[in-house]
Amino acid sequence: MWEYSEKVLDHYRNPRNVGKIDNADLIGEAGSLACGDSLKLYLKLDGEKIVDAKFQTFGCGSAVASSSILTEIIIGKTLDEAKKITNKDIADELGGLPQEKMHCSVMGHEALEDALKKYYGEDSINEEIPQTADKIVCTCFNVTENQIWEAIKINNLKTVEEVTNYTKAGGACGRCKSNIQDILNTYWNVKEKEETKPLTATQKILKINKVIEQQISPELQKDGGDIEFIDLDGNKVKVKLIGMCQGCKNAQMTIKNFVESILKDKVDKNLEVVQI
Ligand code: FES
Repeated sequence: MWEYSEKVLDHYRNPRNVGKIDNADLIGEAGSLACGDSLKLYLKLDGEKIVDAKFQTFGCGSAVASSSILTEIIIGKTLDEAKKITNKDIADELGGLPQEKMHCSVMGHEALEDALKKYYGEDSINEEIPQTADKIVCTCFNVTENQIWEAIKINNLKTVEEVTNYTKAGGACGRCKSNIQDILNTYWNVKEKEETKPLTATQKILKINKVIEQQISPELQKDGGDIEFIDLDGNKVKVKLIGMCQGCKNAQMTIKNFVESILKDKVDKNLEVVQI
């Protein structure tokens, strides 16, 4: 029996924003009834801001909970902010999902992505994922190569079984499992090459900025603080703490244990972070 968080159960029993928006500005779809679950997501915009979101889903309790929480996450966000939401964010916001149900969070993300593609254009959502040669890998569940690639990348998947849990691919006849393994091999080979190739200073700066913007700032902002990237000098990353973080007695600890350790992990293990 799978264990569900209280939040999953709450959103399953009392789903928020169920239904249809008649004059929706964007509609995203994912899954299909033939494959066992599907989701239709309706967005109402005011300029670039999502002011309302509703969903209709056919699926299990986790699909209902994932769709419900997704609408709560995106209402009030700009389209640019919504673009950064991943299936992991949906699952995290629910307090986690059983591994075997992670595909429900992926379906939520895919429906959002489908809606956003109608606004930004087909190729603009995931620039890092190969968009050209997309093809169906799992015909039982209609899962494409790009969807598998994206699930591996976002969720750090290592095995075919994990890919099945997150995308359903491979979960029926199993004929596609060797192709899934090939995609896993390709992804991790590319990643290993990327990691062993030294970054140029410009690449490092871009990566540092991205990690600060997406992972470090949001955490500091929760406590009313923030951080500004000032400069990169060799491997020395110069930053400035701002807001509540400025002058905080734990500032040095935040720099070393939090900021530096994330930058070492995500950008380059030789980086040293200093506050100016
Ligand atoms: S083709 Fe993927 S499970 Fe059948």
